[in-house]
Amino acid sequence: MKTLFNLRALIVALGMSALASQAQEVFKIGLILPMTGQQATTGKQIEAAARLYMAQNGDKVAGRKIELIIKDDGGMPDAAKRIAQELVVNDKVGVLGGFGLTPLALATAPIATQSKTPMVVMAAATSIITEASPYIVRTSFTLAQCSVAMGDWAPKNGIKRVVTLVSDYGPGIDAERFFKERFLLNSGQVVESLRVPLRNPDFAPFLQKVRDLKPDALFVFVPSGAGAAVMKQFLERGMDKAGIKLIGTGDMTDDDQLNDMGDGALGVVTSHHYSTVHPSAVNKKFVDAFKKANKGMRPNFMAVGGYDGMRVIYEALKNTKGGQGGGDALLAAMKGQIFESPRGQIFIDAQTRDIVQNIYLRRVEKKDGELYNVEFDVIKEVKDPGKTK
Ligand code: DHB
Repeated sequence: MKTLFNLRALIVALGMSALASQAQEVFKIGLILPMTGQQATTGKQIEAAARLYMAQNGDKVAGRKIELIIKDDGGMPDAAKRIAQELVVNDKVGVLGGFGLTPLALATAPIATQSKTPMVVMAAATSIITEASPYIVRTSFTLAQCSVAMGDWAPKNGIKRVVTLVSDYGPGIDAERFFKERFLLNSGQVVESLRVPLRNPDFAPFLQKVRDLKPDALFVFVPSGAGAAVMKQFLERGMDKAGIKLIGTGDMTDDDQLNDMGDGALGVVTSHHYSTVHPSAVNKKFVDAFKKANKGMRPNFMAVGGYDGMRVIYEALKNTKGGQGGGDALLAAMKGQIFESPRGQIFIDAQTRDIVQNIYLRRVEKKDGELYNVEFDVIKEVKDPGKTK
């Protein structure tokens, strides 16, 4: 009897020390981001946002120290996948995050599934991504969410004939499809759908074609970082003067570049989930702190995806007492989170693991000498229209 009692005491003691050592053990978050190459601004914005979140909320959650590991994938899918494998196997990260482009997220999805590691997609925005692994949770947005909003707004505002111009890969094809479907329902006409290569695009020949077709408006999707080139060539060709309006998703009038685009950008209307000047106290606090920590840099929609992604991870850690129960428990605690983001109220749909959020219509305006996307209308609580199941 006595031995049995001692054995029990030993088991209890061992259990407690295991708990205690888990509490002291570092919890690692591995962010895989394009820090170099064409999408480097996405990496820069998300890194800055993740570091700000940690500076504001501490580097300890439920007694566990948090370590952020940031790795550069250079925008290459093979690199993203290899890095994810190393982070899971060698570094034993508890969560993967980042993913600046759709192909990077899709390449990594099988690693998340095999290792049962939650994967928080903070940037990539093709609808299909969340279906690539049951361990994916998204805090960015989808092009379908934004494009449907523009397909409703444009025809109500005198735009009947449109040419679409998108980057030729997942999010561009979603933008083209969901804009067109909704626009046609509203009696609009898409006279031509143009697709430009993702890597090193030359917009000139495409824009020449648009000029010849002379639509009421050109609808554009290009990824973060590419919008300034489109705007420059659009204006250089005098397309605005020829009476062609520029519309699109807010990726084109990206806050990261907008202020350098010049007054030619004034009046451009886009649909998106975040603007630096979203009028809320939560956003003002976020923008002020972000600028202060980053030499005046404006946070863009990528930064918000990263900031909210960190919050989803932190809350899941709190609710699992520091990640007890492993990847499955953390994933369960990520599903259904609801909170006020700098972009407004957001919700992680437990069923799809995708984000439900407001989509805003915004117009480029000048305020205190700077260009901003000023919100003038909102469609509330938009679920991704692009889910196949
Ligand atoms: C994606 C990348 C972007 O930079 C963006 O603005 C939207 C979507 C993507 O690859 O999914």
